[in-house]
Amino acid sequence: MVTQYLFGVPVETFAVTAEVPKGTELPYFSQEKGMTFTCALGAEDIVYGLGETMRGINKRGGRYISFNYDDHNHRDDMPSMYGAHNFIVVDGEQTFGAFFDTPAKVVFDVDSDGSGQLSVACESSDLRLYIVEGRGAYDIVRQFLGIIGRSFLPPLWAFGYGQSRWGYKTAREVSRVADKYREAGIPLDYICLDIDYMDRYIDFTVNRRRFPKMAEYTAGMLERGLHLVPIVDAGVKIEPGNAVYEEGVQNGYFCKNRDGRDFQAEVWPGMTHFPDFMQEKARAWFGGHYQFYTGLGLEGFWNDMNEPAIFSTEYRKKDAPPDADRGDPDQPDRHIADFKDFFHRLDDGRHISNYKVHNLYGAMMTRASGEGLSKLLDRRYLLFSRSSYIGAHRYGGIWTGDNASTWKMLRQNVYHMPSLNMCGFLYSGADTGGFGGNASRELLLRWLAVSVFTPLMRNHSAIGTRKQECYRFRNTEDFKTIISLRYRLLPYLYSEYMKAALRQDMLIRPLAFDYPDDKKAREIEDQLMIGESIMIAPILEPGVKGRIVYLPEPMTEVRYNREGFTCMDVGAGERTAMAPLNTVVFYIRQGRLVPVGEPVSNTAEMDLLDVELLGSGTVYEQYVDDGYTKACSLERCVLQRREQAEG
Ligand code: NOJ
Repeated sequence: MVTQYLFGVPVETFAVTAEVPKGTELPYFSQEKGMTFTCALGAEDIVYGLGETMRGINKRGGRYISFNYDDHNHRDDMPSMYGAHNFIVVDGEQTFGAFFDTPAKVVFDVDSDGSGQLSVACESSDLRLYIVEGRGAYDIVRQFLGIIGRSFLPPLWAFGYGQSRWGYKTAREVSRVADKYREAGIPLDYICLDIDYMDRYIDFTVNRRRFPKMAEYTAGMLERGLHLVPIVDAGVKIEPGNAVYEEGVQNGYFCKNRDGRDFQAEVWPGMTHFPDFMQEKARAWFGGHYQFYTGLGLEGFWNDMNEPAIFSTEYRKKDAPPDADRGDPDQPDRHIADFKDFFHRLDDGRHISNYKVHNLYGAMMTRASGEGLSKLLDRRYLLFSRSSYIGAHRYGGIWTGDNASTWKMLRQNVYHMPSLNMCGFLYSGADTGGFGGNASRELLLRWLAVSVFTPLMRNHSAIGTRKQECYRFRNTEDFKTIISLRYRLLPYLYSEYMKAALRQDMLIRPLAFDYPDDKKAREIEDQLMIGESIMIAPILEPGVKGRIVYLPEPMTEVRYNREGFTCMDVGAGERTAMAPLNTVVFYIRQGRLVPVGEPVSNTAEMDLLDVELLGSGTVYEQYVDDGYTKACSLERCVLQRREQAEG
């Protein structure tokens, strides 16, 4: 049961799509000091949720600030990342969920001082607070997913492996990446184009010298089974002659400064204006401009710098120390003053500073692009964004931003996935191998072995770091093996993703959601459930050849290496699983099945129905379609029976 509690006159966030009945007496929380909501936690209570935040799956012990920000230094105590996902589930003596639906800053103090207190401080007094009650944490999450609308449905190729790097400067360089992958026999479905494909970092342009005949180039790549995925940044370059800039100025589609002129901020292209994505007309206008790309045959995009990220503004010079007077003591180095310096015009006519609706900016850019692409294309598109708010999950996925090539970040990737799923973001993943820093061969292989199970599987790295394409490392056969596992599992992973999205359910879950009565399973954070059949227990440490795995029930242990799959039934409890770098070990639940396909070099070659069934079950309900059709429904499920596969 979900109940809505209304405070003041909230800004429309579009996060909740269902009609939710209103309540009067707020349960579980007491309201203190204005808009601070507190609740006493039981000693053993677990607190889930908060999507893209640091620390583990259990958020207890931390302090988290919903205030989207571009900071590549993902320290353990970093208060905010790129997204604001204000949904929590308390699971213990009292079990309930709470969604603080406000686009302004929210501070979640989840017993950070050990006093047993959960406190949620909302900066705005206008908000909708949704309380979710149910039969346990998983049921509560499902009910929450039920009110926020269906997650984005990407095309099949978006579940393939993608290569990216900041620094690919020419079509020739991109082609070389494609050639090298094909030569090494490593499957690949797409290559991302970072800002260097553009003409001086101007959105909706292609540098004709470095990427001549782009439409032909895109078509040629597609013939090789490869999609190109360009980046789109939030800021529009201020430059007479730039049609997008001129249209935006003429129509009042940009955010305004304190004097009512179009606000100016420096990002990659130099001085830019920020589209006012809070306005429906501005969204339609910006989204419509993706026609430039779809006209070139492009169907996949990543939206970046949309917190929005700012290098300097007309008020604050680059690298100037933060404005201490107007800064926020909670976030001393976050240039809060910049966000107070520009304004949106809401569709109800109100003018409001970005600071007050800050967390919606990236989400509204995603909405603009998603709505635009839905009109422009007769098939599904790929879209993932850096910044987000709950609700954006209906239009696109997200990646978790500028992580680093460290084992800690690999572990964080594992923690992020279920928490993001609880907030609707099923299509997500991290920069595999790490964005900053230099990835070792060992780290990349272990990271790939995790990314095999995340819907977005993209290797991305920063300019100036060690090049991280798989073919650059010794013995590419090992990389081929791990990535080919992804493709062999796609009949299952795609099916489970689509079923989860269509049923408004989670794809990736903590063990506690499937085994709520198992005390040990409730504590485990480094193993995950993937869909209805698989449990993973990835290796997240350097220099080790195996790990201890906890099995809450007997399962089939599946070992995948260059020889293929080997299955063995194993009992419940702890066991040591050895996995050399070229091997992935995962588990299939008792009585369940996993359909696996033949090795392919990209999704275009796949036959989702040509599968072999692994595991001890008898029937698997497989979602199957052509991979791009917009009309997706559970009616596309077919039953795979074990006898048939054997016969
Ligand atoms: C920041 C993004 O997070 C990163 O992925 C990208 O490579 C750089 N911007 C350059 O566009």
